[in-house]
Amino acid sequence: MYRTHTCGELRLENVNESVTLCGWVQKIRNLGAMTFIDLRDRYGITQLVAEESASEEIKQQIARSGREFVIQIRGKVVERASKNSKIPTGDIEILLEEFHILNPSDIPPFTIEDHTDGGDEIRMKYRYLDLRRQAVRKNLELRHRMAHLVRNYLDEKQFMEVETPVLIKSTPEGARDFVVPSRMNQGQFYALPQSPQTFKQLLMVAGFDRYYQIVKCFRDEDLRADRQPEFTQIDCEMSFVEREDVLGIFEGMIRHLFKEIRGIDLPVLPRMTWHDAMEYYGCDKPDIRFDMQFVDLTHQVQGKDFTVFNTAEYVGAICAPGCASYTRKQLDELTEFVKRPQIGAKGLVYVKYNEDGSIKSSVDKFYTEADLKEWLATCKAQPGDLLLLLCGPKNKTLPQLCELRLEMGDRLGLRNKDVFKPLWVVDFPLLEWDEETQRFYAMHHPFTSPHPQDIDMMESNPGAVRANAYDMVINGVEVGGGSIRIHDSSLQQRMFKCLGFTPEQAEKQFGFLMNAFKYGAPPHGGIAFGFDRLVSMFAGLDSIRDTIAFPKNNSGRDVMIDSPSEISTDQFKELGIKLM
Ligand code: AMO
Repeated sequence: MYRTHTCGELRLENVNESVTLCGWVQKIRNLGAMTFIDLRDRYGITQLVAEESASEEIKQQIARSGREFVIQIRGKVVERASKNSKIPTGDIEILLEEFHILNPSDIPPFTIEDHTDGGDEIRMKYRYLDLRRQAVRKNLELRHRMAHLVRNYLDEKQFMEVETPVLIKSTPEGARDFVVPSRMNQGQFYALPQSPQTFKQLLMVAGFDRYYQIVKCFRDEDLRADRQPEFTQIDCEMSFVEREDVLGIFEGMIRHLFKEIRGIDLPVLPRMTWHDAMEYYGCDKPDIRFDMQFVDLTHQVQGKDFTVFNTAEYVGAICAPGCASYTRKQLDELTEFVKRPQIGAKGLVYVKYNEDGSIKSSVDKFYTEADLKEWLATCKAQPGDLLLLLCGPKNKTLPQLCELRLEMGDRLGLRNKDVFKPLWVVDFPLLEWDEETQRFYAMHHPFTSPHPQDIDMMESNPGAVRANAYDMVINGVEVGGGSIRIHDSSLQQRMFKCLGFTPEQAEKQFGFLMNAFKYGAPPHGGIAFGFDRLVSMFAGLDSIRDTIAFPKNNSGRDVMIDSPSEISTDQFKELGIKLM
């Protein structure tokens, strides 16, 4: 038997027991008469001690050991003279009686401790060492626990986990596909699924009624903190449901996770229409941990001598509480912030409503105090508050104001990671116009059903049609999205037409689905959650990378296995791919 206990398990009640432990040497402290060793495994750290009276054999073995050596020891559990309350095994230590080196280790390239000296790049290259660190491993443990809770919840609700294929044909979720050449069908390619969307709909046609899958999805898109080229969805679909049924089940799932993991009883989730989210928060994933909604001042500020406002399509303001005392330097910083190319505003106008009731603005030349007072009143500003105004074309200004609002939220400490404010964003537009290609695209995907009240407008005013779609947003992050689907092949054909597909193109790409719909497709709908995003939210992480055992870096590379990499000429030949 390699071990009788793990390194996280022994307590005072085990004192006097003879135990065998295995693990990695975290640290050796030689204090002359005594030597202390921290032995680590997945479960914790246990202190080993070799007294001066220890055998020569043990002393030699210790002298030969170093950090990250794999060892097996036998010894007696004793109460520690000086206890360590920071670790669960801190009341005891093991008096060494035997010491075996199972496998030596090179000196690791960084310290395997919570506060490591290793930079990002090196830790990614040696990810298997980084995963030994408790700080990293605990995210994976959380991930495991959440997957388990999700499976239990869905299982209880009669959802059945079904695996769908990974080598498929392009699914239109809006990103680029990763493609895989086929040796047996030369010149042809599989695509990796951006999601199992069409398969889960086919499972509904097959009568599976309630499906889920914790599943890898692949999207070749630019990476950000909350995006990986391969990521995991909790993908779900249900038959004979309307929007309320889907929202109810999955609100329940999120409530279950919050209760079990964080001990939080979530209230009934608020709903916000996409239109309101855009109008008051400037984006479709509003962070509602704090207020500072946008106030439209366009009409109020126009008609005076300030041409910039007079010629703007939209002038919007946010009211930053308690910021009237901002210095020139702070205001300049904010101006620089909004003028950064990523944000792209031309400038920033401010109005300070000082504590003493006086008003000072950057547009005093053009407006009277009475004018400014009116703006302050419209924005419900209190003495001590600061109004920040941006202007320009509405579709550009709203997202700029959104960035400014989030920045102010950060500066004011209003985006506490331990506060959770989930909501549903509903009534998305069905279609999105793209100037470049001069055509409509499905905002969610082409299988999303139009809002029942808007179906008549699909041909006459497609841009105004709402979708029967919903997103779950938590703290400004889109954690999930779904919709009620089209289950009627003639409506699906109308949708393809709106998207500019000819009947032949639609048949070529989605014939299998349209065909299936001819054989009794039940009304159905579903949702998919970004599992990595959910885990990072619960773990309080800024990036989803640390919720993934072996993630890719920002250029989509796995620096540990050095992938992607070139393949041999023979492989190209086999695949029938000619190199240029
Ligand atoms: P959608 O494209 O909205 O919907 O994706 C669902 C959720 O997946 C997460 N997500 C990502 N997470 C990490 N990295 C990425 N690159 C990434 N892309 C998306 C998000 C998102 O909310 N088939 C539909 C679902 C449905 O209609 O049922 C779909 O995939 O959290």
